[in-house]
Amino acid sequence: MLDDKILNFFKKQKDNYLSGEELSEALDVSRTAVWKHIEKLRGEGYEIVASPHLGYKLLSVPDRLTEIELKWQLETEVIGRKIYSYKETDSTNDVAHNLAASGEKEGSVVIAEHQSKGRGRLGRKWVSPRGKGAYLSVILRPDILLRELSAVTLFTALSVAKTIREFVDLPAFIKWPNDILVNKRKVCGILTELDGEADKINFVIAGIGININTKRELLPKDASSLLAEKGEKVSRVEFVKSLLRNLDRYYRIFNKGKINKIVEEYKKFSSVLDRMVQINYHNRLISGQAVNIDDEGALILRMDSGFNERILAGDITMLR
Ligand code: BTN
Repeated sequence: MLDDKILNFFKKQKDNYLSGEELSEALDVSRTAVWKHIEKLRGEGYEIVASPHLGYKLLSVPDRLTEIELKWQLETEVIGRKIYSYKETDSTNDVAHNLAASGEKEGSVVIAEHQSKGRGRLGRKWVSPRGKGAYLSVILRPDILLRELSAVTLFTALSVAKTIREFVDLPAFIKWPNDILVNKRKVCGILTELDGEADKINFVIAGIGININTKRELLPKDASSLLAEKGEKVSRVEFVKSLLRNLDRYYRIFNKGKINKIVEEYKKFSSVLDRMVQINYHNRLISGQAVNIDDEGALILRMDSGFNERILAGDITMLR
């Protein structure tokens, strides 16, 4: 906690030096304690210079997804009100699920530098190399019906695609329902999980895995990263902060019931609309032209017979 307080002091001071005396008085600890904490912060990658007459100055911060870095000037209303950051965990979705089951408020985020059991959709694994990507789960308690749940996936995917476009300036598209592609390669996946019964939702966990500064060799064959597509490193801290702001914005729109507004924007990012696709739907292979996404997030396929079929979930392959 003292580390956080010292960092906040530095950040408020911008480019100025802070004397050991000022810090020890303000934090009500000895100057030796201040020095020890400065040493600890240095060990964590903070670059802090010390000058005998002037004191300490913060030169640079590490690109680590810690609570203090992510919360600094975040200014969101709901998403990220609380951030639990881990150097390592099994799966952030599982941690978030346990927190939510114990009554954690909505908007809390669980984020990790590495997951030992990162989970993907359909029982797949999510490769989570340490310190390279962002693996996070957001706890939501939306007041919706079960059939409106896919809108959560839609606004989450939209927030990621928008952040990639705005912050990294890459042409991000959404492959329905929730893969984010750049140059036709997957850079992000979303795993939305629900706790509830019958038609009552207790909470939803929106799990997001983004390959940010990951080398392609570490990823599955058809996957890529923002680094590989952009050709340069991306600040993970700043990227996640922009993402949390976008999630906050779209969650407010979603909570006002304006799902149609989200779907309209989502469609502009869609990589499947108007394309001929094949979908594995409940172990049935269906092909047709993707003609629309409706207000419940279902994909409308025009079949060869001329009839439309409404698809709620599935794995898509583009035909041409
Ligand atoms: C997919 O299969 O495309 C979904 C991948 C979702 C991965 C994220 S990483 C953070 C969160 N924790 C997990 O175990 N999975 C999700």
